Amino acid sequence: MTLPHTMTALVQTADGYVDTATGPHVTDLAPYLEHRDLPVPQPGPGQALIKVHLAAINPSDIHFIKGEYGQPRIKGAPAGFEAVGEVVAGDTPLLGQRVSFYATGSGTWSEYALTDAATLVPCRPDLAEIDAAGLIVNPLTAMAMFGIVTKSETKSMVLTAAGSQLCKLLIALGRDNGVQPIGVIRRAAQAAELRALGAADVIVAADALPLDQVQAVMRDLKPTILLDAVGDQITADLFFAMPKNARWISYGKLSAQSPKLDKMGQLIFQNKSIEGFWLTQWMRQVGKGEIAKAFAEIQARYVDGRWTTDVAGIVPLSAAMTDLPPLLAQPDGKAFIDPRQ
Ligand SMILES: NC(=O)c1ccc[n+]([C@@H]2O[C@H](COP(=O)([O-])OP(=O)(O)OC[C@H]3O[C@@H](n4cnc5c(N)ncnc54)[C@H](OP(=O)(O)O)[C@@H]3O)[C@@H](O)[C@H]2O)c1
Repeated sequence: MTLPHTMTALVQTADGYVDTATGPHVTDLAPYLEHRDLPVPQPGPGQALIKVHLAAINPSDIHFIKGEYGQPRIKGAPAGFEAVGEVVAGDTPLLGQRVSFYATGSGTWSEYALTDAATLVPCRPDLAEIDAAGLIVNPLTAMAMFGIVTKSETKSMVLTAAGSQLCKLLIALGRDNGVQPIGVIRRAAQAAELRALGAADVIVAADALPLDQVQAVMRDLKPTILLDAVGDQITADLFFAMPKNARWISYGKLSAQSPKLDKMGQLIFQNKSIEGFWLTQWMRQVGKGEIAKAFAEIQARYVDGRWTTDVAGIVPLSAAMTDLPPLLAQPDGKAFIDPRQ
């Protein structure tokens, strides 16, 4: 295949980190990105070049372009972590194949992206493009964190931001494996859908926790794992309302609020704990076999309908600077960038 010398991409305009934590919300991309041409990257040893078909946008992408994520920005490099596409060059037997991938060399909000060949995930032919575009960040996190839940032997888990795409995957895993999910949301409109999906209970907490409901559900279902993506005062109050041995596992910081931890004695006298989860770290710790097994199950779950991807919309790369922020502001579903348009 003859490759072009140049491509268009959304390119980062700043390096490194900033010392703020404003959350994954953005109304204007211009302070962080510019849409421009740049050379198609060349794969080095162990790398693969992928022609991007569709890139899924996650909260981590927005944390990243703002300089508030766990790895530094690189000025002049395309943004975007995950996508689906065709392998067009590089050090891999997967040339010509459709793969899901997480870009480590050059980002996915671009016509071409670069990553480690060893991390490519070959896609089943019956896997829909929309599911393949977001096959890694949320699905693998759901599998990994549900592994922690299973290992803990809790019969119930609490999920904050329960209407998120990731929590919908977790609710379905709970439903299918005998772990009762308790969803915490801030918009009552999401409750019926989460119950239909398999949530044993849904707590609507817009400004504060409904304490009577919280106490009743903690007493009845006795959850000892709190999977938290919000990190606000409601999360802290929930954690302190949970039974002894409860673990607050923080994996996201959707709220810019700093919670007050006013019952720290529970960590001493009730064996409670607070910890973090980051997929990048988890992938470094587990074996390749476990990851491959997880991807086989992830693809099977999408193909047979146990999981679905909610789509907010798809924007062409050429219009993303203006059309992406309003799409990201829509309440439900994933946003995608199509670099072929
Ligand atoms: N640590 C890791 O390795 C890892 C991996 C994957 C994902 N994550 C994290 O997982 C989280 C979910 O990702 P996603 O792609 O599933 O997100 P998503 O589909 O975009 O959903 C975000 C959800 O969060 C809710 N939300 C936003 N801000 C909130 C706030 N301040 N208080 C309460 N709820 C709030 C939204 O509720 P409304 O509809 O009411 O706005 C929405 O339901 C993100 O924080 C992401 O960074 C972490």
